[in-house]
Parts: sequence; structure tokens; C-alpha cells
Amino acid sequence: MAMEAQIQVPVHVPLHSKPMGVWESFRAGRRNLLELIPEIATRQPMVSGRTVKRWHMVMDPGANRRILKDRVEDYPKSDVTKMILAPAIGDSLFIAEGSHWHWQRRAAAPAFSPRNVQALAPVMTAAAERAAARFSRASGGIINVFDDMVSATFEVISDVTFSGGEAFDRDGVHKAIEAYIASTARLSLLDIIGAPPWVPRPARLFSAPAMRAMKSMADAAINQRRDRPSTGIPDLLDLLLDGEDPETRRRMNTAELRDNLLTFIVAGHETTALTLAWALYLCAFDPAVQARARTEAQAVLGRRAATVADLPALGYVRQVVDEALRLYPPAAFLSRTAIAHDELCGREVRPGDTVMLPIYALHRNHLLWRDPDRFDPDRFADSKSIDRFAYLPFGGGPRICIGASFALQEAVIILATLLARFRFAPVEGKTPQPVLILTLRPEGGVWLKTADA
Ligand code: HEM
Repeated sequence: MAMEAQIQVPVHVPLHSKPMGVWESFRAGRRNLLELIPEIATRQPMVSGRTVKRWHMVMDPGANRRILKDRVEDYPKSDVTKMILAPAIGDSLFIAEGSHWHWQRRAAAPAFSPRNVQALAPVMTAAAERAAARFSRASGGIINVFDDMVSATFEVISDVTFSGGEAFDRDGVHKAIEAYIASTARLSLLDIIGAPPWVPRPARLFSAPAMRAMKSMADAAINQRRDRPSTGIPDLLDLLLDGEDPETRRRMNTAELRDNLLTFIVAGHETTALTLAWALYLCAFDPAVQARARTEAQAVLGRRAATVADLPALGYVRQVVDEALRLYPPAAFLSRTAIAHDELCGREVRPGDTVMLPIYALHRNHLLWRDPDRFDPDRFADSKSIDRFAYLPFGGGPRICIGASFALQEAVIILATLLARFRFAPVEGKTPQPVLILTLRPEGGVWLKTADA
């Protein structure tokens, strides 16, 4: 304990150590969902309680395996998740359950095969090059790297979903999705913790017409592509158009294609931008790690942008990404509703109980990690030594993130390209605060001093 206090650690949220009342929980949850996690969740395998509804927070790899894999049918995604996302992305892969989920997953899986993900890498290399050009213009100054990473990852995801540009208004879709996430996220927090309907919710800011416009734009782009198939490297739209459930031979209709492509955009761009922004913050926080990662990146790349062929030689940069995903998992909180009786860590679970996997607390649990708050990419030098269900930035079991290797490939390509060319240093008084709304965001942005390397 005394040892740990001396170690310099990157920014983290002080978790509460006194039990919270119902109102206090609601108020804290509206500010930052992390504030709802009790400090003992980083010291115990499971914490249970009741705030209107019975709930459990699970930080035990064995129990996680049971929830996400062995008994996945008894733990569907919570109604809240569905309620928030359904208006934007329909009953797509992310929220569907049972057979409707299964056939979509089978139809979409080939699009994310290692070969196809690798084939999409040039889009990532091009986005890395453009990000480096923007950084170059700002070099010597202070920039909010989070904003830049959002632009880079949005370029990637929109280029691999609707690559031709076709009838697709990139900025329009970006704005509609951002507005949607901003307006629904706060609402969702109250529901996750079981606030009764009479608790006042912030008004819905989102306009239904903007959402309708976005959907019809996507439909037009899909129909156009059906009539005029593209000739270049197949993008995700081409691959989904070709996708077929091998068991039922079913293919997606236009609405299903659109809902899934919008899902990829919503699920794929901000999460990857957060990974990159937190990784850059951590590199600025720890100059020794930054120097080691830069030496590796420069040796492999010189001053060119990284490509997929460079990935095997960028092992340390990948470890930095893995460790950033441990300390600041973008999807920091997964939520399920139990529908059957069960026992987890010797404790009773009843149908209707909310079962939460606070990934943030799992990744900082003292029973699983040494000096968990410390930034140390060497933890991942031998990734096989880490229990599969102790480290869950992409979830686990059959519903594991379909885009995990896509995201990791993109993050390493962009991070290596930037580290090879620039130095990053913290800006005093501008430490980003981790705030969990729908994802774990750096409140105020990630402001860093940049200079040519
Ligand atoms: C660093 C970036 C990313 C992170 C941290 C992340 C995290 C996650 C997590 C934790 C889940 C499981 C949610 C749950 O079990 O409740 C998930 C599911 C999913 N993600 Fe990602 N994701 C990332 C990038 C992407 C990308 C790039 C795409 C698509 C291009 C994507 C598409 C999806 C989809 C479709 C699902 C639902 C899969 C299913 O239920 O079958 N994600 N993601």
C-alpha cells in the first residue's frame, strides 16, 4: 500500500468509499457513471446492492466467462442498451438477441475476417498520413488531439462503409450521430441505475427529422451501390452486400444493411478515437515509454506512414495501445439483465437483477493486476499470461466486438505514424478528466504540446 502511494500514476477517478443513497447515486450517475463504482470494486470479485433494483457488479474472470460465454443466453443485454440504441441503429447486430442476432453475426463475420480487415488497411494509412499533416501544421503549438483523432477515425469508418462518397454526406451523418449520442447518453445513465420514470430526464435534444434524413441518405447510397457495384478494393458495404448467412442463405435487405452500417459507424469511430487520444495522453505522461515507442516506430517507418505490413514489427506500440485500453477502456461499463436464477461468486442472482461488468474496475482490480493504476505497457509483453476474462476492452464470448482487430490495426497504424514524427508533452492545468457517459471520454479534451521529433 505504502509502495503504491509513491508511484506516479496517470489520471484516474477517485472512487467512492461510503455507501451512496438513492438520490446521491442518481446525482452522481448523471455527472459521471464512474462515480457510481465503489472503491471496493477494485478490491473484491463482486459487489451487490439495491438502488430501486437489485444489482451486481462483477469483477471476477470466472464469473465474467459465465455471463459472457457459458450462460450467455441467460444474460441478454439490458433493456436500457436497447432502448438507447434502437432508434438509431434498429435491431442490428449490436442489440439483436437470439436467432435474429445469430444470422446477422454469421452474415457479417466474413466482412471482418483477418484477410478483409488487412485489405482495408490502406484507408487507415491514408488517414494516418492526413492526421500527421494536420499535426505538422500545428507543430510547436498546443492541440486537442482528441478532436483530431475523432476526425481521423471518422474518415476511416466512413471510407470503409460508404467508400464511393456516392449519395453520402459525410459531415451530415457525422453531425447527426454526434447529436444523437450526446442527447441519449445522459438519459441512459439514469436508466442503467434503475431510476423510476418520474425522475426528471434531460430533454431529448435530438431531432427525429435529422435521424430520418441520415437513414434515407444511407438507403440511397446502398441502392446506388446495388445498381453500380464498385470496382476497387471491396469495402464493408460491398462485403455486407455479398454477405450471406451460411445456414439459412439469408441476405440483408436495404434496411438491415443500413442499420448495420450505421452501427459500425456509431460503435467504431469514437471508441477508436478515444483509444488513440488516451494512448497519446499516456505517452505524454511517461516520456520514457514515449521514447521507447518512438525508437521502435522510427526504426520501422522512418518518416513514412505505417502500413499493415509494418504491424508485426510494431510490438511495443501495440503494447501501449493494449495498456491504454486497460486503463481507459472506451466501453467501460457493460450491462446485462439476468433472466434465469444463477449463482455468481457464491452469490444468488435472480431473474430481473441488473448484472454489470464495470470494465474500468475490472482492469484496475488489485486481485488481478499489480499496481493496477500504474501505466506499464510491459504487462502486455506476454499477452498470453493475462486471463482472457480479466481484460475485456472488447467484451468476450460470442458477442465480442466484431470490429476488435479492425480497431487495433487502425490504432497501431495511426499511433506509430504520429509517434515517429512528433513529440508530445502534457500541458499544465489541462489534465483530461475521465468521464463515463456512454463511453469513457476525456472531459475537456486531450490537450498536448506537439513538436517535430
Ligand atoms: C477501440 C475500439 C472499440 C472498442 C473499445 C469496442 C468495444 C466493444 C465492446 C466492449 C463490445 C461488446 C459490448 C457488450 O458486450 O455489451 C462491442 C461490440 C460491438 N462492436 Fe465494438 N469496439 C470498438 C471498435 C469497433 C469497430 C471499429 C466496429 C466496427 C467497424 C465495432 C463494431 C461492434 C459491433 C457490431 C458490436 C456488436 C457485436 C455483437 O453483438 O455481435 N466496434 N464493441
